[in-house]
Amino acid sequence: MSKSIQVKKHDNHYFYKASEVIPEEMLSDLYGSAVEWLEKTRKEITDEVYPPEASSQLLSIEEFVTSELWSKFYTEIKKHIAKYCEITGIELSSIKIHSSWITRVADIEFPGKHTKEELRRRLKQHSAFGNMHSHTDNPIGMVYYLKNPDPKYGTIVKLTDSKIFQNNGEENSLMIFDPELYHTALYPPLETVQEYPRITIVADCCYV
Ligand SMILES: [Fe+2]
Repeated sequence: MSKSIQVKKHDNHYFYKASEVIPEEMLSDLYGSAVEWLEKTRKEITDEVYPPEASSQLLSIEEFVTSELWSKFYTEIKKHIAKYCEITGIELSSIKIHSSWITRVADIEFPGKHTKEELRRRLKQHSAFGNMHSHTDNPIGMVYYLKNPDPKYGTIVKLTDSKIFQNNGEENSLMIFDPELYHTALYPPLETVQEYPRITIVADCCYV
C-alpha cells in the first residue's frame, strides 16, 4: 500500500489521493506494457474528443486481465477503491470496476485513419474547460498518472459554477473521485509532450 494517502472533502465530495502507488521496481515494466497495449488497441481519434491517443476498454481483453503485471496493478488500485468506499460510505460489494483504459499525449506522429492536419486541428480546438465531461452512472472514478512531464498537468473537477478542485498528477500517484462531477485533464502543450509524454491509466466503477 502506498506511503501516503490524502483525503480532501469539498461540498460533500471526497477527493482521495495516494502517492507511490506501485513499487518503484515495477514502474518500467508497467510503462513498457502500457505503451504496448495503447498502441495495440488504440482507438481512432474521432472516437475521443481528447487526448489524441486512447486505448480501447482493456478489462474485456483476457490476455490483459490475466497478465501478472496488470493483475498486480489492479490489485493495488482495488485496495485504494476499498479505502475510498470506507471513507465515503459506499458499500464496497455494491460496486465493481467495469472499464479501464490508457490515455497518452505525446508526439502526434501515430498511425490511424486521420490525417496529420486533422489531428493538428483537433489539438488546436482543445481547451481544458471545453473538454469538461461527466461519466454518468459511475459513482467512482480513478486516474493513475504513469508519466507526466509536470505534476501541474493533473485533473480539474468542477465543484460549483465558481469553484474548481485541482489535483496535481505526480507520477505514480492516483486520484479517486466522483466522476459524475464535471472534470477534465490538464494537458501539457505539444512542445512539452514531444519531449516527455503524459500517460494515464483510468478506471471507472459502476454499481453491480
Ligand atoms: Fe473522464
